[in-house]
Amino acid sequence: MFTRVKGTQDWLDCLLAQGVLKKVEGFLKIHNFSYIMTPLLEYVQLFERGLGYETDVVSKQMFLIDSKNEDEKICLRPEATAGVVRAFLEQQHAITLPWNAYTFGPMFRYERPQKGRYRQFHQVNLESIGVVGIEYDALFITMLQNMFLQVLQVTDFVLKINYLGTLQDREVYKKTLQAFLQKHESEICATCIQRSTTNILRCLDCKVESCQAVYKDAPVLTDSLSPESAAQFAQLQKLLLALGVTFVHDPFLVRGLDYYNNTVFEFVGTALGAQNAFCGGGRYDSLAIQLGAKQEIPAIGAGIGFERLLMLCEEKAQLLQEQKPQLTVIIPVEESEKIVATILTQYLTQHEVCTQLLAQQTSLKSRLKTADKLGARYVIIIGSQEREQNYVTVKHMVTGKESQVVQADLVQFLKNL
Ligand code: HAM
Repeated sequence: MFTRVKGTQDWLDCLLAQGVLKKVEGFLKIHNFSYIMTPLLEYVQLFERGLGYETDVVSKQMFLIDSKNEDEKICLRPEATAGVVRAFLEQQHAITLPWNAYTFGPMFRYERPQKGRYRQFHQVNLESIGVVGIEYDALFITMLQNMFLQVLQVTDFVLKINYLGTLQDREVYKKTLQAFLQKHESEICATCIQRSTTNILRCLDCKVESCQAVYKDAPVLTDSLSPESAAQFAQLQKLLLALGVTFVHDPFLVRGLDYYNNTVFEFVGTALGAQNAFCGGGRYDSLAIQLGAKQEIPAIGAGIGFERLLMLCEEKAQLLQEQKPQLTVIIPVEESEKIVATILTQYLTQHEVCTQLLAQQTSLKSRLKTADKLGARYVIIIGSQEREQNYVTVKHMVTGKESQVVQADLVQFLKNL
């Protein structure tokens, strides 16, 4: 017996996933988003350059592929943004800005699996490319909040925002933070000591309790912002309030990927446990340059962790899930009725009646039981008498009522029932 690969999942009941995705896609259409697909395979360098060598995703979590060619380092995508921007840069001659694109599919990260954290997980990934101005940030965040709150009726979440400012703002802040960490070097963990020289902002994300106790009093980034950046952040908050968005400012929210500047945000599920961020994103104006463009291409985006979103949608599953059509099962009683039953199965499906043939040679009783387990609403029984006289017996599985229906009237009968 084979088992699935650690950290992956088999999705055998996708009704809720399909229902949620359909609602999300309908909503995104109204916001002028187009569905795109980019490959699951990308060059490793794309992420090294785009996300940063020092990020966990690149330094520890990449699934590398043996591509049989030494010069070609390929991996399974750990996220979608770098691939979408690469695709945009390759085909920008054919794209009019602003360009709103979304994709849905698997991402791969070699992490320690636990509830809500997988090695193959799925994201709805949204990018708005070519958008300059804080009003776009406000509209983007508002769109996400409305998607969760109004379209999916998810209420147990908090929206955290922060403002990372420009590269210069962060350089000023890093020096302040460095000085603070030096004073507390004996109290922080080994990873934080290492990060304080490689990727100091990530220290603030450390989950070790003793580190958290120290960082509680650390200087905050938003205090190091230039007057222009501070004004932008104030404007963002003003716009969000005007748009009816509820948020908290988390001064330690830095996000785990290096491409962000200015606005960052995370939607955190209050009942999700340890892995509680179900959507995260922000502005990434310089990513295009990192990937070889000659100038900045301002953009904002977000990744929605689909597994985590579904966990939040479970409470409203009845309302959100895709509805299955009512099932009709066809049972030919004897061998001699199989041909009629086969033709009838094909005929009904062609007339959009969801139909399942049960032709195996078990007793009628056992097949009625199977039909019940399959959730059939109606069972069509064809015995010798029915075959000879061109009618069928339709049994309503809830009321038990049986009706004799001539074959020609069957579709009409089933649709009107
Ligand atoms: P991220 O924060 O790395 O951002 O991932 C976005 C979301 O994906 C997370 O909030 C979480 O819900 C989900 N997620 C991440 N890792 C896992 C995992 N191992 N198992 C289950 N769910 C997971 C990005 O990926 C950025 N590309 C988002 C973005 C788009 N920024 C700008 N544009």
